Amino acid sequence: MRRAKITIVGAGNVGATTAHWCASMELGDIVLVDIPQTGDMPKGKALDLMQAGPIMGFDANIVGTNGYEETADSDVVVITAGVPRKPGMSRDDLLSTNAGIVGQVAEQIKQSSPNAIVIVVSNPLDAMVQKAFQVTGFPPNRVMGQAGVLDTARYRTFIAMELGVSVEDVSAMLLGGHGDSMVPVASCTSVGGIPVTQLIPKDRLDQIIQRTRMGGAEIVNLLKTGSAYYAPAAATAQMVEAIVKDKKRVLPCAAYCDKEYGVGGYYVGVPVVLGSNGVERILEIELTDEERAAFANSVEAVKKLVARMNELG
Ligand code: NAI
Ligand code: 2OP
Repeated sequence: MRRAKITIVGAGNVGATTAHWCASMELGDIVLVDIPQTGDMPKGKALDLMQAGPIMGFDANIVGTNGYEETADSDVVVITAGVPRKPGMSRDDLLSTNAGIVGQVAEQIKQSSPNAIVIVVSNPLDAMVQKAFQVTGFPPNRVMGQAGVLDTARYRTFIAMELGVSVEDVSAMLLGGHGDSMVPVASCTSVGGIPVTQLIPKDRLDQIIQRTRMGGAEIVNLLKTGSAYYAPAAATAQMVEAIVKDKKRVLPCAAYCDKEYGVGGYYVGVPVVLGSNGVERILEIELTDEERAAFANSVEAVKKLVARMNELG
C-alpha cells in the first residue's frame, strides 16, 4: 500500500511545523512548496526534517520545491501560503494580500491534484477557505479550513490551567468564524465528563472564553514578528491524520454550510465528522439562545469578510 501524499504549500512557520508534526506522526510522504523567491529554503527544510527520521524513528519521504510538479496527485493539500499578522493587525488586515496568494495556489492545486482534500490555514481563514473553494471548484466536502481545532485547543488549555487538570480530560466544542467573534460553546464543554459549568463559575468561564477569543493576538503580541505556529500546525496535523487514517474524528472545522445552521453557503466553524472523504457530515447541535445569537453574529462577520473579498475580485 502506498503512503498518503501530503503537500504543504507555504514552507514558513506554520507550513514547516505542520510538516514536522505530520512526519513525526508518520502520516505520509510530504512535499513542501514555497515561492521561487525563497530559493532552496523548502528543499533545505525538507532535507533537514527527513534527517530527523532516524533519530525520532519515522519513515517519510520529504521533498521541498518551488513548483507543483512534485505535488502531483496529492491526497491532501494544506495551504499555509500567505503573510502572517504583526502586532496591531487583525486577521482581516491580511485579506487582500492573502486572497491573491490563496487564489494562485488553489489554481495550481486544481491542475496538479484534482482529487485532493484541501485544508486551508491562511488567514483570514473563513474567507480564504471560501476563496479556495471558489477557485478549485472542488466539492465542498473536499475543501475545509483549520481554525476550530486550534481555538478549541486554546480553550481546553486555559480550562486545564484553571482547574489544574490534564488537558486530555478537557473536551470542548467551538463554533463560528476564526475571529474575535468565535463562540466557545459552554454547554458542550466538560472535564472528565463533568459539565464545566459545575466546576468554574460563569464569570470566570466568561474570562476564559474571552482569553480564547483573543488567543491568537496574545501570541502575536508576545512574538512580535509573526503569529502562532506550534499549536496551529499541530491542529492541522490532527486534521490530516483524521483524513489519511479515515478516523471519523468529530472536530470543529470551517466547513461549507448551506442549509446547515441556516448559514446559506459560507464556510464557518462547525462540528464535523472528518474522514477519508473529507467533511463527511456536519453535526447540528442544539444551542442556548445566547450561543445561537453569538453564532449568528459570527456568521454575519464572516459574510461581511467574504463580501469584501469578492469586491476585491
Ligand atoms: P510565514 O511568513 O512564516 O510563512 C508563510 C510562507 O508562505 C512564506 O514562506 C512565504 O514565502 C509563503 N508564500 C507566500 N506566497 C506564496 C505562494 N504564492 N505560494 C507558496 N508559498 C507562498 O507565515 P506563517 O506563520 O507560516 O503563517 C502562514 C499563514 O497562516 C498566515 O496567513 C497566518 O495568518 C495563517 N495562520 C492561520 C492560523 C489558523 O488557525 N487558521 C494559525 C496561524 C497562522
Ligand atoms: C492564530 O489564531 C494567527 O490565526 C492565527 O494564532
